[in-house]
Amino acid sequence: MIKEGELKLLAKAASKRAYCPYSNYKVGAALITSSGRIFTGCNVENASYGLTNCAERTAIFKAVSQGEREISGIVTYVSGKGPIAGPCGACRQVIYEFGENAECLDFNEDTEVRSLVSELLPRGFGPRDLGIKIERKR
Ligand code: THU
Repeated sequence: MIKEGELKLLAKAASKRAYCPYSNYKVGAALITSSGRIFTGCNVENASYGLTNCAERTAIFKAVSQGEREISGIVTYVSGKGPIAGPCGACRQVIYEFGENAECLDFNEDTEVRSLVSELLPRGFGPRDLGIKIERKR
């Protein structure tokens, strides 16, 4: 993934800002858009648990709100060692919306797993299925 080293540092730094008093599971994400801009995010929990926003979606919503609509890669960090979780189902769907060819990298202290969003979300549902062509350049 382009700028992977920088994205990994930024994702790890973003995890330090996680707001996760309920799970204490700190997650950080950093993405790069097709135009080369970088955005970061952390998970933001809520006392009404279902309102929690994952780190990946925080970064994506920041990017979209700043005029970006095409993700080329997203890196996610969770502290610890050993087997690493992939993005949750909701995040897979949101990544797909803005990057059907996006590269994903999940990592912790000793493990990293690379995948394409098309592997994480086979036969994903997207704008094309609704006959919609999304304008990616804003
Ligand atoms: N979480 C993320 O931020 N990203 C993921 O891919 C999986 C889960 C967060 C949501 C919640 O704050 C905590 O991790 C435990 O589910």
